[in-house]
Amino acid sequence: MSTDREPADVVAELDDLKVWFPTPGGTVRAVDGISLRLRRGETLGLVGESGSGKSTAGLALLRLVDPTSGRVRVAGEDVTRWSRRRLRALRRRVAMVFQDPQASLDPRRTVGDSIADPLTVHRLADRGSAQRHRVAELLDMVGLRADLAERHPHELSGGQRQRVGIARALAGQPDLIVLDEPIASLDLSVQAQIMNLLRGLQRDLGLTYLFIAHDLAAVEHMSDRIAVMYLGRIVETGSPARIYQQPAHPYTAALLSAVPVADPQVERQRRRIVLRGDIPSPVDPPDGCRFRTRCPQARPDCARTDPVLTAVTADQDAACLFPVTAVAAMHGGDRPEAS
Ligand SMILES: Nc1ncnc2c1ncn2[C@@H]1O[C@H](COP(=O)(O)OP(=O)(O)OP(=O)(O)O)[C@@H](O)[C@H]1O
Ligand SMILES: [Mg+2]
Repeated sequence: MSTDREPADVVAELDDLKVWFPTPGGTVRAVDGISLRLRRGETLGLVGESGSGKSTAGLALLRLVDPTSGRVRVAGEDVTRWSRRRLRALRRRVAMVFQDPQASLDPRRTVGDSIADPLTVHRLADRGSAQRHRVAELLDMVGLRADLAERHPHELSGGQRQRVGIARALAGQPDLIVLDEPIASLDLSVQAQIMNLLRGLQRDLGLTYLFIAHDLAAVEHMSDRIAVMYLGRIVETGSPARIYQQPAHPYTAALLSAVPVADPQVERQRRRIVLRGDIPSPVDPPDGCRFRTRCPQARPDCARTDPVLTAVTADQDAACLFPVTAVAAMHGGDRPEAS
């Protein structure tokens, strides 16, 4: 894959990326060899439990963490080793929206000043009336009145604060926005509004999103493709249609079984797959398949072989020695022996 010529529509790419953090307790393998491609205008939903490495993968796209090995490419350029000075240009093309807008906005500064920061850093509008004008425009794009620019974050509701976070991300006119659980801390009714806003902005501005979430329900209506992470690796990737109807990896199946179904009849009859134990330590992941210690279907082979992502159907890859295949599912879930 690394020798492929980059197709023009690839906005950003992680290639066999590893991000390890040395700590007193050992080396944390937060991201441990993942490859992702983001195509122009699409939303890739990145899903997994807490600690699976989703945020670290997102931060790597802005080079807010240093890769241990592998490559980060943005707009066809290898930014893996870019200097701090060049990274400023990268952080204009790639922006990030965080889960907690309260924490990502400076409480002592006005909303307008926070939104204007990227305008100053990237020299997009002169201080004064040009910036005020642009800030008003950005506030309008996220559905806020221009006079909110004079307020401080604590005077705003959670939803308004997240709109400000989005306005700030839009200020540099990025191609790609990493949305790191952007609605997770908001009330349900507000969540829907923010999702609609994000969808509208994507349509109008041709934005590409990496949409990070804990659970599959959160990304279902937003994603063109989905990647499921477990302990620093991508264990399954594919179209939402495939992932939701016929997950091939037992971990995806378990995540999916936790998603509520609207039909109460179906909901009552559903089987929940409850995973044993906690996610193992990323300092010392299990040998072979990392998921085997919690996998309801683990076999002896799973301790010996570390499975790689392999095509299961035309638009679905899974890293499992014994993936659930469509044929097996039709016959009551029995899976054929691996050949
Ligand atoms: N700067 C760091 N130093 C040491 N360990 C880190 C650092 N950043 C992340 N980690 C560890 O790396 C692993 C992955 O963290 P990360 O935040 O990427 O996971 P996540 O999937 O985003 O989790 P969450 O859903 O809780 O946000 C975790 O074990 C975390 O504790
Ligand atoms: Mg995170």
